Amino acid sequence: MTDTPQSASGQADNITMSGGGLYSLATIGAKHVIDNATPMVLQALQQIKQLPAGNQPWCFSDMGCADGGTSLDLWRNVIKFIRQQQTPEWSAASSADIQIVYADQARNDFNALVQILHGLTDFESYLHEFENIHALESGSSFYLPILPGQSLDLGFSATAMHWLSSKPCDISDHVHMVGAAGDELATFAKHAASDWQTILLHRARELKSGGRLILVNFAIDEAGQYLGNTGGINMFDNFNRIWQDFLEQALITETEYKAMTLPQYYNTVEEFSQPFNDPDNAVYKAGLRLSEIKTATVECPFAADFEQHNDAEKFAQAYIPTIRSWNESIFHGALATDRPAQERRDLIENYYGTYQNQVAQNPQGHGMGYVHAYLSIVKE
Ligand SMILES: C[S@@+](CC[C@H](N)C(=O)[O-])C[C@H]1O[C@@H](n2cnc3c(N)ncnc32)[C@H](O)[C@@H]1O
Repeated sequence: MTDTPQSASGQADNITMSGGGLYSLATIGAKHVIDNATPMVLQALQQIKQLPAGNQPWCFSDMGCADGGTSLDLWRNVIKFIRQQQTPEWSAASSADIQIVYADQARNDFNALVQILHGLTDFESYLHEFENIHALESGSSFYLPILPGQSLDLGFSATAMHWLSSKPCDISDHVHMVGAAGDELATFAKHAASDWQTILLHRARELKSGGRLILVNFAIDEAGQYLGNTGGINMFDNFNRIWQDFLEQALITETEYKAMTLPQYYNTVEEFSQPFNDPDNAVYKAGLRLSEIKTATVECPFAADFEQHNDAEKFAQAYIPTIRSWNESIFHGALATDRPAQERRDLIENYYGTYQNQVAQNPQGHGMGYVHAYLSIVKE
């Protein structure tokens, strides 16, 4: 078994989304997920009992924010909601300063985040629409403390916490834990449970008493569905088939095949809930309680578009960049470093080109439907 080193930055190596704002352009589905979670966030805000008083600011976090483009509307809606409150309890809180801490791992493209937030791109930022809004950036992983103790009113994260702190082992015959079995699956599950606890314990310390978390995480739902496996072709099996084909054609080595194991884990509802159900668990003892957990799917926007335009080539060209935006760095990192850089780049182009040709030639059943668990958590 190999253990991917977890650096001092608290994250596994090679996890980087596409930079330069490409992430948000390619992942409209992730924005739909955040839009779906917005009512839960507004409800959580309404439930906060200890509102900021005097000159205290609001403090929010957006953990695993990438370039920030997909959550612009969420934060616009949160700010609007706060500013519109008119009841006496909200008199100080509705006009209080608002601090939003955008956190991601240190390798994230923070330049793209800053440019999107400050209106230097085609995305419509909310920053200049309101007064006294402070967007701050943090390169601290969610496996580390991000904020001082007792300072956070509401923490948010979407589609990020499936990335483990490190790769617990290589999976010998698949690229993802959804295709793992036996000891390898058990090793992933144990590592993921420990990571989930670490995330929650750091947040428990950061939250004010009565503060809340809305976490929207990839999941395996009650019907066994998960990302790219909502009927039709299983996306992860297809990743694996093409990578295995590359091995059979001797384009890559056995070591490179195995090294392509995504350091991700998709929890079930039971696994997400476990720390909250056991009074002896450190998370429970730290005061965190699960108010709500539900699963929901969001259809692949590219497959949905294809149903309208019926142009397979157009579908393939739009769909493959969304996949590349989050897993290219892992495929690239699996290739031996003694291969010339150009050869590695060519192999990666060949890999995604193969996938794209498959979709263009036989588009039926392809797609990356999203399956998430939506969790609402409160600190007592
Ligand atoms: C798929 S993107 C999600 C971006 C955005 N939240 C959304 O929903 O569109 C996943 C993000 O999680 C970040 N990420 C992965 N591991 C992380 C860690 N340990 N701490 C913070 N962010 C992490 C990645 O860098 C990436 O920006």
